[in-house]
Amino acid sequence: MAFSYMPGFGNDFETETLPGSLPQGRNSPQRPAYGLYAEQLSGSPFTAPRGTNERSWLYRIRPSVKHTGRFKAASYPLWKTAPNVGDHELALGQYRWNPVPMPKEPTDFIQGMRSITTAGDVLGQTGMAAHVYVANTSMVDDHFFNADGELLVVPQVGALRLVTEMGVIELRPGEIAVLPRGLVFKVELVDAEVRGYVCENYGAKLTLPDRGPIGANCLANPRDFKTPCAWFEEKETPCRLIVKWCGNFHITEIGHSPLDVVAWHGNYAPYKYDLATFSPVGAILFDHPDPSIFTVLTAPSGEEGTANIDFVIFPPRWLVAEDTFRPPWYHRNIMSEFMGLIHGQYDAKEEGFVPGGISLHNLMLAHGPDAPGFEKASRAELKPVKLDNTMAFMFETRFPQMLTRYGAELETRQDNYIDCWADLKKRFNGTPEGDWS
Ligand SMILES: [Fe+2]
Repeated sequence: MAFSYMPGFGNDFETETLPGSLPQGRNSPQRPAYGLYAEQLSGSPFTAPRGTNERSWLYRIRPSVKHTGRFKAASYPLWKTAPNVGDHELALGQYRWNPVPMPKEPTDFIQGMRSITTAGDVLGQTGMAAHVYVANTSMVDDHFFNADGELLVVPQVGALRLVTEMGVIELRPGEIAVLPRGLVFKVELVDAEVRGYVCENYGAKLTLPDRGPIGANCLANPRDFKTPCAWFEEKETPCRLIVKWCGNFHITEIGHSPLDVVAWHGNYAPYKYDLATFSPVGAILFDHPDPSIFTVLTAPSGEEGTANIDFVIFPPRWLVAEDTFRPPWYHRNIMSEFMGLIHGQYDAKEEGFVPGGISLHNLMLAHGPDAPGFEKASRAELKPVKLDNTMAFMFETRFPQMLTRYGAELETRQDNYIDCWADLKKRFNGTPEGDWS
């Protein structure tokens, strides 16, 4: 079955699966067509300014109050929520990991969520968490919603089907999806095993960055974002709904599927984006801009230019700058940087940072090209070079990222990561040329 999408970012979308199921000219008629219930899903306060005011109207077989019963506590011990401070003994450092291992037991998307860092405070609706998911089992009768934030899903291995109450998103590595706070969904696996990264955003929603002097085009273009058309199922068999709420998990049993939205309209909706459609902008004579030039989505913090989260990619691109050290420069940063690699090779690290891997360069901790990378880039002939077959990304936040015990004790952590800079030589010898012997 092919699922269809509507293009645009933050549009006022409308979609119906049955003719006339979407009311026209009003939101809440006395008796909606087909006996549906009208329900509003508010992603912003009612009174938020127009630019950030988000809500959708859902026309469904049963109202959401029928999709929850009495809750019981549920346990997903590897999914952590900020503040989660001091639950390990690992000393401060720059960290890097090989991929999180695939599970041996049957594991679905929610059970397979492994938190690596948390930042900020979910109770203040500020900050984020960086997770890796690994799964080998589809969610069939289990459904989930996260009251704590939206989920930015970045697949690395295997395709997924995000079956949400507002429509179905098919997602493969190279694409990303955003599932809004409160949206009910389940995750089906298209491939036998899947792995990827998730950024859980406790704060204001991800949006497109302003382009400033770049103008009206390039970077992520709104038309390349795809929101699913309505889809529903009429399934009258036992189902469960799992809720993440202020860091705790709760479960409720219901007698039917909650994925019963026949039609909807509004601007609060899930979407996906193909990273290959990002049009990178960079230096065409010398130097290179800060990596913020590769921001796909940004979640503002309330302080201008100081993101709660920037989602940044390092896509294929031409390197043409003259008299320039072309890889990323050495850096210390007030923002903290969680990086992953979807496929290929990252240009500051030719070895050690592998697809599915992670690096964490936290608040004010130094990082930059490894010794072989520095040597090579410092001596390279500066002809135009295509950096190809690569896709790295960064979840960058203004808050320090607190490592979880799982991340600290994960067997794939590279205890020798710090050694990648050991062979950087002293080149200073008092002469303007320096010592390049
Ligand atoms: Fe950096």
